[in-house]
Amino acid sequence: MNDLRRFRSSLIRGWASVALLGLALAPAIAWAGPRPMSYLQGFGRKAYPVVSYTWALLGIQSAVVLIITGLVVAGTVIYRTRGRVAVGERLPVGRGGHGLRFIYIGVGITFAVILGSMVWMLVTLSAVESPHGDPELTIQITGYQWWWKAIYQSKDPSRILVTANEIHIPTGEPILIQLIGGDVIHSFWIPLLSGKTDTIPGQVNDMWLEADKPGRYRGQCTEYCGWQHAHMAMYIVAQPPKEFQAWMDHQLEPAPPPTTPKLLSGEKKLAFHCGVCHTVRGAGAGGTVAPDLTHVMSRSTIAAGTLPNTVATLSGWIADSQAIKPGNHMPVLYLSGPDLDDIRDYLMTLK
Ligand code: CUA
Repeated sequence: MNDLRRFRSSLIRGWASVALLGLALAPAIAWAGPRPMSYLQGFGRKAYPVVSYTWALLGIQSAVVLIITGLVVAGTVIYRTRGRVAVGERLPVGRGGHGLRFIYIGVGITFAVILGSMVWMLVTLSAVESPHGDPELTIQITGYQWWWKAIYQSKDPSRILVTANEIHIPTGEPILIQLIGGDVIHSFWIPLLSGKTDTIPGQVNDMWLEADKPGRYRGQCTEYCGWQHAHMAMYIVAQPPKEFQAWMDHQLEPAPPPTTPKLLSGEKKLAFHCGVCHTVRGAGAGGTVAPDLTHVMSRSTIAAGTLPNTVATLSGWIADSQAIKPGNHMPVLYLSGPDLDDIRDYLMTLK
């Protein structure tokens, strides 16, 4: 009997602490600053309705668990303390007086809650289906093993911009994103701004997103796409419209001309060794199968968010990218020390 009582009170204490922990953590999660991959926070018009709905569902589910657990525990305690049933005594089999009434009530409440959640879900889906106004900016994003190409569309061909992995957008306006699969199926996901949309070869999937606040919003490929699926991140960098325009104007400029003989040699070697795959506008490198490097030093990471973009990681990547991100489609070039040095120094000027 003592064992039973101890078990019972430890059960109650266990559940109570789980409930208290949940209650304490929920506001902490909701009000803490942005966390890179959280779907419990939102920072734009597309995210708000979904985040509210997610929290509501979490609340309902937690309430169901707590209420049912409470009822089971209370039932056990009440029957024990009132001494209606002694240990070892057999319960008479038969239909009780009020049993069915509780089943009707339970089923009724459950049905109402599920129906309410379904209506809320439909309202949420229609709220995020299309933006509130026509997007002025369209970005075509192609998923490749294992990086993202972004092409900023414009009616003026001189303002079409190609970049990779770090995608800048202006705050406070909806952006139309056209998604394409370059080789296999990938999935584009920026949890703080929007849900997932697949990129499928031979198909254009339209989606939109919007950021209210300036910031860097991390994204991740979320459809298994091979060896380096986990190293296929991207960033949406949201900036106030004026800052975004300045960024865009700078990105549209060609690479700055080399200012020393060493940099000139680096430019030539880059065109020779790297130019078949990579583009550096104005430097004789025009390959399109790998990330555009015209302003590579304006990006804070390399290899699709795998590493911070520093002199050390850039050198390592040029020397042997296969050691860093095995299976990626960049071959090892077996460059001599001086060649690597010149190319790396030249790349470092591409701000
Ligand atoms: Cu691309 Cu997973």
